[in-house]
Amino acid sequence: MCGIVGYVGQKQALEVVVAGLRRLEYRGYDSAGVAVIADGHLETRKKAGKLTNLETLLGEDPLPNSTTGIGHTRWATHGGPTDSNAHPHVSEDGRIAVIHNGIIENFAVLREELTAAGVTLTSETDTEVVAHMLARALPAVGDSLQVAMQAVCSQLEGAFTLVVIDPSQPDIVVGARRNSPLVVGVGDGENFLASDVAAFFEHTRNALELGQDQIVTLTAESVTVTDFSGNPVTPRAFTVDWDASAAEKGGFDLFMLKEISEQPKAVADSLRGRTSPQGRIQLDELTLDESVFRDITKVVVVACGTAAHAGMVAKYAIEHWTRLPVDVELASEFRYRDPVVGPDSLVIAISQSGETMDTLMALRHAAAQGARTLAICNTVGSTIPRESDAVLYTYAGPEIAVASTKAFLTQIIAAYLVGLFLAQARGALTEEEIRGILQDLNDMPQKVDLVLDTVEPVRALAQQLSTATSVLFLGRHVGYPVALEGALKLKELAYMHAEGFPAGELKHGPIALIEDGVPVVVVVPSPRGRAVLHDKIISNIQEVRARGAVIIAVAEEGDEVITGFADHVIRVPEVPPLMQPLVSTVPLQVFACEMATVKGHDVDQPRNLAKSVTVE
Ligand code: M6R
Repeated sequence: MCGIVGYVGQKQALEVVVAGLRRLEYRGYDSAGVAVIADGHLETRKKAGKLTNLETLLGEDPLPNSTTGIGHTRWATHGGPTDSNAHPHVSEDGRIAVIHNGIIENFAVLREELTAAGVTLTSETDTEVVAHMLARALPAVGDSLQVAMQAVCSQLEGAFTLVVIDPSQPDIVVGARRNSPLVVGVGDGENFLASDVAAFFEHTRNALELGQDQIVTLTAESVTVTDFSGNPVTPRAFTVDWDASAAEKGGFDLFMLKEISEQPKAVADSLRGRTSPQGRIQLDELTLDESVFRDITKVVVVACGTAAHAGMVAKYAIEHWTRLPVDVELASEFRYRDPVVGPDSLVIAISQSGETMDTLMALRHAAAQGARTLAICNTVGSTIPRESDAVLYTYAGPEIAVASTKAFLTQIIAAYLVGLFLAQARGALTEEEIRGILQDLNDMPQKVDLVLDTVEPVRALAQQLSTATSVLFLGRHVGYPVALEGALKLKELAYMHAEGFPAGELKHGPIALIEDGVPVVVVVPSPRGRAVLHDKIISNIQEVRARGAVIIAVAEEGDEVITGFADHVIRVPEVPPLMQPLVSTVPLQVFACEMATVKGHDVDQPRNLAKSVTVE
């Protein structure tokens, strides 16, 4: 939440910073602001609303040339989305400009102390206190911004990434991080700070990870990192291997549409190189000793939102393949209920961003109980993989649209690979069985492609149903998390009441929601294999149809029975049951995207949301 950019170098800082903010706007879009240093003083511009409002302001009231600057795009926590609450916040003496991501939990006490000392605060934010505290700390530490930052950070509680500039030290940018993300881009005669690499990867592919409680000082030529006590730290370097075009719309109207279309490639990329020529699962990145995978007695998945749905899908597969119990926990609840995890548990944190605070805190809690931890993550250099014992990266490429699409499919792929690796290590599946499942997985890019080729009628259907006030989603087995995911997409994009249920649960209460004309999307299990699930869902369809529901069935090619029970049938290719989520989710993504488009909503940046949720 909130996007942060800092720059010092030879280029016009404003251009670099605004371009970076455009790439980070998915992290929050309640307001945006910039500050640069010019002729020994600070100049700031900030505006409520999306970045485009700030750009208009900058057109009307330009900033002077400068090669040192910072910028921020906000997801509001403390204080509404107003101009005065927008970052940067500036100290009373006009000396320090600060931008912040996170929540300073003890801000009320700090605010009181400042007020008592005669400081007038001009915003409702928790951030502003930092600007005043830094300005007051500087004289006592010989005006060193880095040392003042150490002193101030030691007094802060909560989560924070802070980036500051000071016109009396015009060629440096200082950043600090605790719990919230901050990465360094190392350029040639220029350096960058940002919430994630998307902000600078068009300038440099060389990056540094910052650890917990670290302070970084940038000049155009140097990067110095210390801990909060001033002890030097050597940060880990990494290379950003994203394709530059990956963060552009590339001819699509929406990032979401582009990302939906990228799913076959994302799935293929996430499978590539993870099998030996002999057909064994080979996950070289899983640096945990294989004995860990043999000795654990349970698996716990912690994740939020779409990533949690991927975990729910994976539960069906991992339990089936390994006979290990798998719990899937919403990360935000995990550590507050004294969960039973320990050295015999493998805790898998699934996160596209690698920065979701709820997931990070759940992971830390699990690690503190002695659990072995494994991250499934899409973002190299992010906190969750860094703090896990092992990581399996998904190769979805940058996901810019707030609604998660390609990340979901690749999270399922990665979790399935972990499941197969566990089964292999434990001898729970034969080599031949594993080879067969791998073949099924390797067929999936082509199957997802087929879905994309035939998805057009879904748009027409969304248009037809766009006046509905409520849409229910039903599924059984792996179709249940798909139903949850379909409902989540519709809620977050189309702002409609949408709920997913296990189809069998409906009669225990939710069926009371059914009235004439309510659209019910049903993820229909294959009639092949466990036909009982198909039979049962037909009964569930009958139950809601009898009460006036309009049935939209997502069913596989060749399922002719369903046509007699559905008002609309969305076809997906025949795939093995455990692979079904990889095809049946795609039309639901398109359905939600189209529904939101028809309603005139901003699909890529839905209201109230941010892509990377870095507060609890
Ligand atoms: O970055 P993460 O995968 O940890 O994010 C988790 C959720 O915030 C995320 O999946 C969210 O639910 C999506 N916006 C849903 O489309």
